[in-house]
Amino acid sequence: MTFNIQDIPLQSGRIAIVTGANDGLGFQTALAMSKKGIKVVMACRNLEKGDKARREIIRQQPETKPELMHLDLSKLSSVHAFADEYMQKHDRLDLLINNAGIMIPPYTLTANGFENQLGVNYLAHFLLTGLLLPLLEATPGSRVVSLSSNAHKNGKIHFDDLNFKKKYSAFAAYSQSKLACLMFAKELQRRLDKSGSKVLSAAAHPGMSDTSLFKHVPAVITGILGPLIRLLMVQSPEDGAKPILYAALGADIEGGDYTGPDGWQQWKGEAVKVKGSRLSDNRQVSKRLWEVSEQLTSFNYKI
Ligand SMILES: NC(=O)c1ccc[n+]([C@@H]2O[C@H](COP(=O)([O-])OP(=O)(O)OC[C@H]3O[C@@H](n4cnc5c(N)ncnc54)[C@H](OP(=O)(O)O)[C@@H]3O)[C@@H](O)[C@H]2O)c1
Repeated sequence: MTFNIQDIPLQSGRIAIVTGANDGLGFQTALAMSKKGIKVVMACRNLEKGDKARREIIRQQPETKPELMHLDLSKLSSVHAFADEYMQKHDRLDLLINNAGIMIPPYTLTANGFENQLGVNYLAHFLLTGLLLPLLEATPGSRVVSLSSNAHKNGKIHFDDLNFKKKYSAFAAYSQSKLACLMFAKELQRRLDKSGSKVLSAAAHPGMSDTSLFKHVPAVITGILGPLIRLLMVQSPEDGAKPILYAALGADIEGGDYTGPDGWQQWKGEAVKVKGSRLSDNRQVSKRLWEVSEQLTSFNYKI
C-alpha cells in the first residue's frame, strides 16, 4: 500500500519536534505537518536560517504557529538544554522526528569527541529520544521516527573504532551512522514493547532527494554524472519527505516498521514499507550498540 498525505485527517492539538527543520527534508516534513494542523517545534542549530524557514511555513500556512528552538546536535550539552527547555514549555510530545544529519564531511569531532556523523546523526538523537521519552510516554499515540538511508546497507558498526580515529572513511562513517539510526529504531521498539510502553518507534529513508546534504560530494560526481543521476535516481525534497510523513502519520504503521520509496533500488517513488539490511535486524549487535551508546552519552534509558 502506498501512502498519500491527502488521506491523513487534520491533527489539531498535536505537537511534533522536527530536528533540522530549516532545510531539505526536515523543512518539507515541518511544512506538511503544519498543513495538517500539527504544531511543529523546529529544532535548528542556526536560528537565522530557522527563522527564515519558520516564516516561509507561516507564509504558506498562515494559521499555523511553528516554534523555533535552538538545538546543536554536535554538543550533548545543547541536547540536554533543548530537552529541558522543551519540557518546561510543553506538556505533551506526539511526534519526535530525528531528521537532522550530515553526510561525508571532512574528518572532525563533535564537542564530545565523537566522529561528527556518528555524533550528530546518531548519538545526539539517541540522547534526545531518551531525555524526551517520559513526555512521549505521557502522550497517547506518540511516535519516534529515526532517519536512515540506503547507505545503511553498506554499513557496519565498527566497535573497535567507532570514531574512525585509526583511518577515516567518510562513506563508511556515514553508513555506520545510518545503520546505527535504523538499529536504534528497532531496538527502541523492542525495549518499549518489553516495558509495556505504548510509544511507537519507526524508521524512514527518503531514497535520494535533492538537498544540501550532498554539499561534500566531489564535484566530479555531481558535475559529470549529476544530470544522469538526477534524472534516474533523484526526487524532490517534497517527495523525499513522504516516507518520513508515512512513518509519523500512517494509520497502518507498526512499531519497528521502516519506510522508503517503492522505485528501483528504493531511490525514488511512492512511500511504502521497506526492508532494512539483515544486519539491521541483528539483535546482538543492536543490543551492544545500545549499551555502548548509553556509555558514550552518559545516559541510561529506564526501559
Ligand atoms: N537527501 C537525501 O537523499 C537523503 C538520503 C538518505 C538519508 N537522508 C537523511 O535525511 C536527513 C535530512 O537530510 P537532508 O537531505 O534534508 O539534508 P539537509 O538539507 O542538508 O538538511 C540537514 C538538516 O540537518 C541540520 N543539521 C546538520 N547538522 C546539525 C547539527 N549539528 N545540529 C542540528 N542540526 C543540524 C541542518 O542544519 P543547517 O542548515 O544549519 O546545516 C539541516 O537543517 C538526514 O538524516 C540524512 O542522513 C537524506
